[in-house]
Amino acid sequence: MRIAITGSAGQLGLALQKRLAGEDLLLIDLPQYDIGDYHQTREVIRTFHPEIVIHAAAFTNVDACETDPAMAYRVNALGTQNVALGCQDCDAAMVCVSTDYVFDGQKTEPYWEWDAPNPQSTYARSKLAGEQLTASLLRRFYIVRTAWLYSREGKNFVKTVLRLAAQRDALHFVTDEVGSPTYAPDLAEAICKLFPSSAYGIYHFTNQGVCSRFEWAQAILRLAGLDPSRVSPTSGFVRAAKVPARSELRNFCGATQLGITLRPWESALEDYFCGR
Ligand SMILES: NC(=O)c1ccc[n+]([C@@H]2O[C@H](COP(=O)([O-])OP(=O)(O)OC[C@H]3O[C@@H](n4cnc5c(N)ncnc54)[C@H](OP(=O)(O)O)[C@@H]3O)[C@@H](O)[C@H]2O)c1
Repeated sequence: MRIAITGSAGQLGLALQKRLAGEDLLLIDLPQYDIGDYHQTREVIRTFHPEIVIHAAAFTNVDACETDPAMAYRVNALGTQNVALGCQDCDAAMVCVSTDYVFDGQKTEPYWEWDAPNPQSTYARSKLAGEQLTASLLRRFYIVRTAWLYSREGKNFVKTVLRLAAQRDALHFVTDEVGSPTYAPDLAEAICKLFPSSAYGIYHFTNQGVCSRFEWAQAILRLAGLDPSRVSPTSGFVRAAKVPARSELRNFCGATQLGITLRPWESALEDYFCGR
């Protein structure tokens, strides 16, 4: 298949490249390609003429989006629009990767795919704009919301915890932020199972189960062979962006329609440490 991947050098992009090795791939990422560049993005997609575009590029620094909203909207909203227009030109289907942060985190139950978004940060508003532009421009699209991504490549919470553990004896992580750690290779696998279906729509793909940042940090230390009691619980951490307190996504559509499920987050984290 001819598949274009935006954000190909990011955590998900690299996992997709690995999963799709052997396919005819167009890799779109900075510095060679800038999805915020309307003419270049449309042209490069039209010339390659893919069957599918997996759009994983984003301005993902959630706090930096608060200080630079123009950049957040340029990449996450306009950039997504440019990718969708490129898909329109060659009738490619598009996978638009989005986030649990489109929800406000006030719901005590997991979010269904059709629950009303209520984004609380610039990052989340710009990602929701990207979802809406995709849905308004294309007939054949999959919106895939995920959460708390990590992989062996790139910046993520697992690496931050391990770095801090190497620098300090005592670590503090919050109990009042709850989500689903999601291993990028597992998400890449789930996304690739969507293509043959033509079951366009919204999907919630995370590893199963939830934990707090505190519980996640404890699990990371345990699997790294370090003492998990070095992590203490805290709460009320103040950051530039407001993030959902609890953003569990219910994978209803993928599981019910297509039988696509992701394993529990604990099992995926073990594989991370085994190098799988
Ligand atoms: N990370 C998470 O916890 C998380 C959670 C929920 C949803 N998501 C979504 O999942 C997707 C993949 O996330 P990820 O963790 O793989 O992100 P990532 O590691 O930050 O990768 C994003 C990639 O996009 C590139 N990029 C940024 N601006 C670009 C532009 N203007 N043109 C072309 N490429 C550009 C980045 O390049 P630079 O590194 O050079 O900027 C990077 O290589 C994103 O849509 C994100 O919003 C992520």
